[in-house]
Amino acid sequence: MIELQAFAKINLCLQVIGKREDGYHEIDSIMQSISLFDRIRLLVDEEIKVVSTNPQVPTDERNTARKAAEVFTEKTGIARGVRIELAKMIPVSAGLAGGSADAAAVLIGMNKMFGTKLSEAELMRLGEEVGSDVPFCIAGGTGRAQGRGELVSKLAALPKSWFVVVTPQLLVATMWVYQNFDRFWVKEERKVGEHKSIASIQMFNDLEKVVFWKHKQVEKLKQQLIQMGCLQALMTGSGPSVFGLVPNKKIGEQIFEEIRLTYPQSFLVENVKFGITILQNY
Ligand code: C5P
Repeated sequence: MIELQAFAKINLCLQVIGKREDGYHEIDSIMQSISLFDRIRLLVDEEIKVVSTNPQVPTDERNTARKAAEVFTEKTGIARGVRIELAKMIPVSAGLAGGSADAAAVLIGMNKMFGTKLSEAELMRLGEEVGSDVPFCIAGGTGRAQGRGELVSKLAALPKSWFVVVTPQLLVATMWVYQNFDRFWVKEERKVGEHKSIASIQMFNDLEKVVFWKHKQVEKLKQQLIQMGCLQALMTGSGPSVFGLVPNKKIGEQIFEEIRLTYPQSFLVENVKFGITILQNY
């Protein structure tokens, strides 16, 4: 049995560079792992099975953790299966890479369980087949993601910062956001690169305008977080979650206590240096 923590991510900036021939979009983004996590337990089994604490999570072939286990057994030729138990804390379809983090945990966990000794780079390549954000979730910490998101280079860890993350109860599909992005696309001069502090990052997300157009509530939420005392606020990924960078933990706690009255899916988090940690292995 192996038990892991799979950390959510936020995009500190996300630039969409253009549309690719394969239908995906070329992006350039700085991603950051945060202290909001799912717990994943893996047990050797005859076949691949998934159980989850959140009924919103499909356990069939749409499940990213299941897909990761399938890709892993296919590529390594391991003839055994795995029972995957997901204790979900990360909201689903929220722009926080919850599904990708679970997939990353399955790849790292199965590699340990079956002693297959694949390198991190090899696991990241398997992760690409499951989803664009899986390689980042394997690398974790602070990273720059390019290509369709799967080309990850690690960046120096940013100093400890606190964020209030808020997930509105809205269904926003990543595919829908990218499809509609093309209608709003205008070339803007942006600078994605290495930064010494979170405050010095020019926070922007090109996907915001698509989601704001359809869901005014998300734009309002961003403004509300600024009015409440956040230094900066931004939608993460394809939304609908919005995070606010707070000046310190104390102010973060005040904002969190207030915003959770309207938005029950709110979290006070800090940045972390890893995407996956192993809690138990026996
Ligand atoms: O890779 P993932 O399965 O997370 O992507 C979901 C959908 O989002 C894709 O099928 C694609 O339509 C869109 N997408 C995109 N460009 C990206 C990432 C995702 O167009 N860089």
